[in-house]
Amino acid sequence: MAILNYNNRIFYLNTRSATYALSLETETVRHLYWGRKIIRPEDFAGKAELTPHGFHSELDQTWEEFSGSGCLRYKETPLKLRFADGTRDTRWKVTGCDCNEDILEIVLQDEVYPLAVSLFYRVYDEEDIIERWVEIKNTGLEDIAFDRLFSAQFTIPGVSHDLLGFSGKWNGEFQLNNEKLGSGKTVYDSCRGITGHGSQPVFVIHDHASEEAGSVYYGALAYSGNFKVILEPTEYDFINILMGINDYDFGWLLSGGSSFVAPKVYFGYSEKGFSGMSHTLHRFSRGHFMSNLTKSAVLPVLYNSWEATEFDVNCRQQMELADLAASLGVEYFVMDDGWHGLRDSESRGLGDWDVNQERFPNGLMELIDHVHSLGMGFGIWVEPEMVNKDSELYRTHPDWVYQYGKRDILEARKQCVLNLTKPEVAGFILRFMDELLTKYPIQYIKWDMNRPVSEGISGCGHEQSFWHIHTLRLYDIWSRLRELHPDVYFESCASGGGRVDFGMLPLCEQYWPSDNTDAVDRLSIQHGYSYFYPIQYMRAWVTDCACPSNVRDVPLSFRLHSAMCGALGIGSNLKHLSENENKLIADNIRQYKAMRKIIQMGKVYRLKDHTKDGFHAVQYVHGSKSVLFAFLVKGRYKRNRFMVRLSGLEESELYEYKIQNQLFFRSGSYLVHKGIEIFLEGDYDSVILEFRIK
Ligand code: GLA
Repeated sequence: MAILNYNNRIFYLNTRSATYALSLETETVRHLYWGRKIIRPEDFAGKAELTPHGFHSELDQTWEEFSGSGCLRYKETPLKLRFADGTRDTRWKVTGCDCNEDILEIVLQDEVYPLAVSLFYRVYDEEDIIERWVEIKNTGLEDIAFDRLFSAQFTIPGVSHDLLGFSGKWNGEFQLNNEKLGSGKTVYDSCRGITGHGSQPVFVIHDHASEEAGSVYYGALAYSGNFKVILEPTEYDFINILMGINDYDFGWLLSGGSSFVAPKVYFGYSEKGFSGMSHTLHRFSRGHFMSNLTKSAVLPVLYNSWEATEFDVNCRQQMELADLAASLGVEYFVMDDGWHGLRDSESRGLGDWDVNQERFPNGLMELIDHVHSLGMGFGIWVEPEMVNKDSELYRTHPDWVYQYGKRDILEARKQCVLNLTKPEVAGFILRFMDELLTKYPIQYIKWDMNRPVSEGISGCGHEQSFWHIHTLRLYDIWSRLRELHPDVYFESCASGGGRVDFGMLPLCEQYWPSDNTDAVDRLSIQHGYSYFYPIQYMRAWVTDCACPSNVRDVPLSFRLHSAMCGALGIGSNLKHLSENENKLIADNIRQYKAMRKIIQMGKVYRLKDHTKDGFHAVQYVHGSKSVLFAFLVKGRYKRNRFMVRLSGLEESELYEYKIQNQLFFRSGSYLVHKGIEIFLEGDYDSVILEFRIK
């Protein structure tokens, strides 16, 4: 049974290896326990002993699943609101619950005011994940104004835990940092209108966990707009965790009879360290979010023209690149920015989605037919939420962008954000995208978003809701397009990894984790990315040295190996490659195709992180096969032997593998416990080893 229940009061939400327990009290839903599976709900039957004292707030001591706000409560709470008469606290009564096999709904109501909250929990027992969401209803007639509407609250006993964070920036996403919680609140968020590059809408709390061992508590918010995570060590020896839509410049007016559903949260508990967490999340994503395009099929090797041609695109040159790409074994050809309107730089053409006639005098079909005749799928870049001032769209609809009253519009990358809260703007995006995909046989869309939102709307009375409405509209447009064009792959890009989150997972087949294509930087970006998000979604291109993000000479084989750790793409200027380089790329693409199922669909094991000592190793296991990538970023002191213990292998099986053409046979137990020696020398050396059960 996924949900155990004692007297309709104590509930155990049980997954394969964990229990999440709560109890319904008269005035709140009390959190009881989260951790390794326990079996007997009545063990929690007694009342909690709290210390009453004038300055000890009982409410602050209570572990709550969804605190009311205000009252004698001083910790962070998920709601901030104002009833019509100015009252700004809530006092809950638990008024009902409904439980079936795997869903629990608990209803709380304010004791006086017309506010009802339903807490929902859905247990995916086999997958070790619980999904939770909250619906807030105004059951009266007058408006209720919200300044905060978070999705979830968690309690973890003890205050001195570690937080594994994913901080970053443009060109440097998903950087791991581990810090001790203990004094003061830790807050991270985004207020840019997208998830952003700076942090992730997730939490990972642990006590000295490693990749393979240790308890890890984690949660992910399925949301792609402004988010906030608060971790608050309380004076009562527990951490109060909250996550949801950022309350920065947030406002929501809930009119009488209406309701609000906050974004969902997926959470779990691993006793097998970080890799246990990642494997659970990756498996869950495959089972619940991935489309038919990725659920059971590997992603194609693609070519993307951006770093080769930037805005300087034309039909002949793209056809030539397509010829070269096809000859290397590439399966999809994606033309990036510069094909539409008068788009010859970042300054103009965004918003005008007609094909540039000068660059494509015979129309787009000439290129598409050519790409298809080479046996490749065709993909194209778009940035639908944006407009340049220098565009027909802006000249025709200057009122379609976000702008405050009399102020000048702020531009970033010379572009403005379209006001998606206007139905006609959302309709325009849906229409032009649908027309593009209907008129042309396009199999792949790279959807970009290259600037943060900076100003909203004014003068309409509930301005601060635009952030959330923007995100909801975006979800609507993507969902509708995917219904209309279910065979098209979608890639989510926002100047690299600015919109990578669980909200986008069901809406795309892949992420562009970073604009940084430097093969060394990418290793750590990919490393951090893989904690929450599936490898199959992780697009990685091989680009030329001196790529725009970093200038250093990294051998082509290292660049190939680094990109082969994800869904391989090529982004080099193929016209400049030597015969040897072409051969190396073609050989590696062939090798990648033979092993990509293991990489894209297997379990990933992060064995070594080069940011520590220059040596990096990552391994993938799928069924009886495994692939190990090892990289020496910086050779030091003549060290050229590196010991690697493998993971995830069947210990009782015999594996075969080759090192420098010499065949070896070793048991899984030997490879896992003793490990193998890898020889790498100098800077930027790398190797791929393949293992299979004999
Ligand atoms: C962003 C993307 C790049 C490329 C350019 C095009 O920077 O992240 O990959 O598509 O836009 O303008």
